[in-house]
Amino acid sequence: APVSVTKICCIGAGYVGGPTCAVIALKCPHIQVTIVDLNQARVDAWNSPDFKLPIYEPGLVDVVKQARGRNLFFSTDVDKGIQEADLIFVSVNTPTKKSGVGAGFAADLNYVESATRRIAAVAQSSKIVVEKSTVPCRTAESMRTILEANSRPGTRFDILSNPEFLAEGTAIEDLFKPDRVLIGSLQTPEGLDACQSLAAVYANWVPTERILTVGLWSSELSKLAANAMLAQRISSINALSAICEATGANIDEVAHAIGFDSRIGPKFLRASVGFGGSCFQKDILNLVYLSESLHLPQVAAYWRQVVDMNEYQKRRFSKTVVDTLFNTITGKHIAVLGFAFKADTGDTRESPAITLVRDFLQERAYVTIYDPQVDEAQIWLDLAEALPGVPLENIKKQVTLAPSALDACKNKEAVVIATEWKEFRDIDWAAVYAHMNKPAFVFDGRLLVDADALRKIGFKVTTIGRGQ
Ligand code: NAD
Ligand code: UGA
Repeated sequence: APVSVTKICCIGAGYVGGPTCAVIALKCPHIQVTIVDLNQARVDAWNSPDFKLPIYEPGLVDVVKQARGRNLFFSTDVDKGIQEADLIFVSVNTPTKKSGVGAGFAADLNYVESATRRIAAVAQSSKIVVEKSTVPCRTAESMRTILEANSRPGTRFDILSNPEFLAEGTAIEDLFKPDRVLIGSLQTPEGLDACQSLAAVYANWVPTERILTVGLWSSELSKLAANAMLAQRISSINALSAICEATGANIDEVAHAIGFDSRIGPKFLRASVGFGGSCFQKDILNLVYLSESLHLPQVAAYWRQVVDMNEYQKRRFSKTVVDTLFNTITGKHIAVLGFAFKADTGDTRESPAITLVRDFLQERAYVTIYDPQVDEAQIWLDLAEALPGVPLENIKKQVTLAPSALDACKNKEAVVIATEWKEFRDIDWAAVYAHMNKPAFVFDGRLLVDADALRKIGFKVTTIGRGQ
């Protein structure tokens, strides 16, 4: 029969483990939730008395304030967390492999494996082990082999897949009202019981018709599939934006017109400088690698093109900036507004802003960056990584960080909008204009500002997906 879960441990206190399990704790006061991580600084931040949490996410502080110390705990004692729990989420990072077999494509499952081995090594009673991390199809099989080969007699492990679909910036909203919760299990009596145990946790706040239960492999693949299809929509609209720019069609109007077809729908059709974030590219490359391993080269090539189109879109945008600024930006001063990969997050992983700034620096421009949430140290780290071999002192000769959007734009030739922060739409553009060198250019990489209103002020405006 399904066990009633009373203690949950989550391994990995990151963007997914933190918010997901904080919300479980909030919605299930009868369940003790302990989130463990090896990273002491991260755990300390989650425990900070003034709630300076390690990630910025609207609404997250409120959730943690209500639950922390009541039934929500953060700790570096991974072993104790594992031993006490009946159900363990594995929510560690699964980045793209940087070397070895599958480098540049395959997911690095080293963190998942070490977490799994730790569970096997220290568990003294039976556990339900839940893959929360995004993993290649059939990873649960490897986890099961590791757990079974290393377990003590009398302990049993049931493995579930429960991928997370939250988007950063709206994580708390998404967790409160998920479109669906997906749980995959083996279709054995024990597997189905474990599935029911986890479903009962979510049923504390999620309507049961939104809790979908499927086979393990379908669940694992559905996560990669969902991200691949979402990213594909963006690459499709971005590919169309290039046609718009060349023809005088307007991508906003095209997106509006096609989005009215109820089969297509209006969401996720905003043309941009390219998608970023820690997952879209990683998960598609993972799918490409999986397809190749399965001897399906045409399938691999199909998905690969979604990433290639995104790279093209970023390159195309940098080139437009150079072309428009009279074919050279050497020695020119450019303000880059936004460094996060999307609005309402401080996360910069795979942010298109990094690529743009790198391109501008390689053209020997001076760049001033402003982002309302990204830490300065993070910007330096990202730029150092994007320009390997260039000493940070040299990068700092070309890049400055500004305390506000208006400061960033002062005495510049051009403003590039790289992240769709609402505050960039609402800044006093007339004041910005007054402080800029003339002619003053705006490059809107996010379809954020009212281009006509800016032109009336005097700006020369270039927008993705609109002919000039
Ligand atoms: P993250 O890097 O923010 O967090 C992972 C955490 O796991 C880190 O703090 C790390 O220290 C910890 N960790 C790694 N190995 C450990 C171990 N053996 N024991 C204890 N702690 C360990 O990553 P994230 O963004 O939270 O992503 C986690 C997973 O969720 C990934 O597979 C990702 O693809 C997936 N995912 C992410 C998002 C998102 O929006 N970021 C959304 C859905 C799914
Ligand atoms: C995405 C998915 O939306 C989540 O469902 C998924 O759980 C998550 O990946 C994951 O697996 O990590 P996230 O990357 O946080 O979430 O944010 P999105 O809102 O999807 O945005 C991704 C990128 O696409 C951003 O750079 C965003 O600016 C860009 N984007 C999004 C567009 O360019 N146009 C759009 O219409 C939508």
